[in-house]
Amino acid sequence: MSEPSAVTDPADPRLADYADLTDVELRRRREPAEGLFIAEGEKVIRRALAAGYGMRSMMLTAKWLDVMADVIAAVDAPVHLVEPQLAEQVTGYHVHRGALASMARSPLPDTVDLLAAAPRRVAVFEDIVDHANIGAAFRNAAALGVDAVLLTPRCADPLYRRSVKVSMGAVFQVPWTRLRSWPQDIATLRGAGFTVAALCLSERAITLDELAARDDERLALVFGTEGAGLAPGTLAAADQHVRIPMDAGVDSLNVAAASAVAFYATRPR
Ligand SMILES: C[S@@+](CC[C@H](N)C(=O)[O-])C[C@H]1O[C@@H](n2cnc3c(N)ncnc32)[C@H](O)[C@@H]1O
Repeated sequence: MSEPSAVTDPADPRLADYADLTDVELRRRREPAEGLFIAEGEKVIRRALAAGYGMRSMMLTAKWLDVMADVIAAVDAPVHLVEPQLAEQVTGYHVHRGALASMARSPLPDTVDLLAAAPRRVAVFEDIVDHANIGAAFRNAAALGVDAVLLTPRCADPLYRRSVKVSMGAVFQVPWTRLRSWPQDIATLRGAGFTVAALCLSERAITLDELAARDDERLALVFGTEGAGLAPGTLAAADQHVRIPMDAGVDSLNVAAASAVAFYATRPR
């Protein structure tokens, strides 16, 4: 346990982890490079700790001292006590949830190891750049029986503050890693015994109901970007093209919504 200490200067280097949280470009570069991510609010901080992430520091306003007393007692990280105005000056926004923690990233697992520990279902997200979509997709994965998530190199960071928030902490629950050479990694999925199903609108797609009826022992569901969908190389390498039939002239679902439908329909029986 470390005693909370008041910090009154917004330029104090002890608050550097919390600086300019609204600058998405800056934080997107800084956080992975410095091995940190920001957990915002009591529940998310507790979930990150419960998932085994180490804490670098906490920044709290006074009214959160009692609420977080057990966390303060349990962790060996500095606790910076700040006025709400100072929190706003440092972060760039009004911190409604009054409690922020800077957490240490853990090394990402190797893809082969991750797949070995994923008995039935994995999801692959290709180049999804929207943090909210990634967060929502992780929440769906956690809730609907997906054992692991794989992200292509250009996918948004699931540990970015907005992803964490939208996922309600599910990004801490579902094992995940980043692929290194997509779509070549499809061979690794297949080598681990997964049928690789590309969710797309292609003419030669089977329906999601038809895929679900097969009840594949190990299934990898692959989802594409909001704009163009899955890349031609991914579609060419997949074992199966799968379509969720659409009504009322709607051509497609948002990727997170499509993932929820697909995860539920193909859950292991
Ligand atoms: C907004 S959609 C992209 C639509 C894109 N114009 C296309 O042709 O794929 C984003 C992703 O969600 C999934 N998706 C959305 N609606 C789908 C549907 N009806 N059938 C299969 N996949 C769908 C696909 O993985 C798709 O790449």
